[in-house]
Amino acid sequence: MTAENTPPLAPLAVITLAAGKGTRMKSDLHKVLHPIAGRPMIEHLMASAAELSPARQVVIVGHGREQLEDALSARATIVVQAPQLGTGHAVLQAEGELADFAGDVLILYGDVPFVRPETMRAMIERLHGDDAPAVVVLGFEPADALQYGRVIAQDGRIAKMVEHKDASAEERAGRLCNSGLMAVRASELFALLARVGNDNASGEYYLTDIVNIANGDGRICAVVITDDPDEVAGINSRAELAEAEARWQQRRRRRAMDEGASLIAPETVWFSWDTVVGRDVLIEQNVVMAPGVTIADNVTIHAFCHLEGATLASGVAIGPYARLRPGARLEEKTKIGNFVEVKNAVMGKGAKANHLSYIGDAEVGAGANIGAGTITCNYDGYFKHKTVIGERAFIGSNSALIAPVRIGADAIVAAGSAVSRDVSDGELRMVRAEQLVKPGWADRFHDAMKKKKAERQVP
Ligand code: UD1
Ligand code: MG
Repeated sequence: MTAENTPPLAPLAVITLAAGKGTRMKSDLHKVLHPIAGRPMIEHLMASAAELSPARQVVIVGHGREQLEDALSARATIVVQAPQLGTGHAVLQAEGELADFAGDVLILYGDVPFVRPETMRAMIERLHGDDAPAVVVLGFEPADALQYGRVIAQDGRIAKMVEHKDASAEERAGRLCNSGLMAVRASELFALLARVGNDNASGEYYLTDIVNIANGDGRICAVVITDDPDEVAGINSRAELAEAEARWQQRRRRRAMDEGASLIAPETVWFSWDTVVGRDVLIEQNVVMAPGVTIADNVTIHAFCHLEGATLASGVAIGPYARLRPGARLEEKTKIGNFVEVKNAVMGKGAKANHLSYIGDAEVGAGANIGAGTITCNYDGYFKHKTVIGERAFIGSNSALIAPVRIGADAIVAAGSAVSRDVSDGELRMVRAEQLVKPGWADRFHDAMKKKKAERQVP
């Protein structure tokens, strides 16, 4: 069995800390709601935690409670910590919520969103080790230990946890750092927290002190060390947000290639958290996938395309410079060319819109050809209306299809037509002024004008 589908050892509650002020983001949006790959960072974390099937999810918030309630209340209980007196005090706020809970508690940070489910599981498994540790801490060894709290440990057993501010020079020299994440049994967690004081350099209630207290009781506390310091990287600023995005994208590009997509310049292709990409897909340079994109096998995405909420069936080709907006559904072998925007529209099998078009709120039948510059005029300033184009219909260039309107199967709309009434199957519709034909008129005009100009130039 893989780590992901091993059953959990005991019921699990996850407490996610998110009450910090996040001042360095300089944002009105709560820090943990800032998106990475188009998804709020805390939701990445909750999705990973969900792989362990927690019975409870509690999120501790300070300011911005409403924002988090709007985003998460369906999946987690939001508990307010006010004032914020430290990480230990933050976890203690979940006590009432978990009063009836018997099981394991995993403590996560909302701004450390990319902890892998395997790592979480390893912490919980360690908690159930034969030596029955009271607390399991997730440690890491960064290249630069900076201001992180230090874990003084030997052979995986912790002797002491010390915050950087409180540490001696010798303790600071240690490279093993505290990620902040912990696993503790609910039956022990709150009793330990009740004994934590704030007599330290910051005057805060440190969560890390539960380790020192348990040690004092003669209990064992263990450290699990991640081999990937990136997974415990916290996000405190816009620059760190961008770095986390870059790391996420790099992994996702790699996965797309491993799964059979060709990316000519991977570093210029941007995925969303939910992008689905098939095999034998070619993605050229500078392509952005916003959320909601599904790409089947054998699809070609030429350079400079932007896709969002779009479904591309097998054999589709788009771009360069195509824009697919939410509700774009391209059936097999459709072609969407340069400077074509498709929104809330189905392009039937083999339909083409190769140049400079807007196709919105439309149904385009299989095999239809949408000429250059065709616009579906879907909006009258108040309401949106639908355009339905039949199979194999041919829409001449620079036509305006004024919705609501239907164009029948096999119909032809002549170039430059503004069509506001339905067109029947097999009909030719031409909506433009009769042509005026005057043979030789231009020649006579030029002759007359040249003569006039020559006369005026005579002194
Ligand atoms: C904490 C750890 C430190 C560790 C570091 C890893 C403690 C005492 N220190 O330090 O050992 O190396 O994280 O990044 O635990 N939070 C609240 N309420 C509070 C205070 C914090 O919810 O009252 C939340 C924050 O939103 C954040 C997390 O707890 O998600 C950590 O807070 P932060 O202030 O960054 O802790 P550090 O001092 O960095
Ligand atoms: Mg911090």
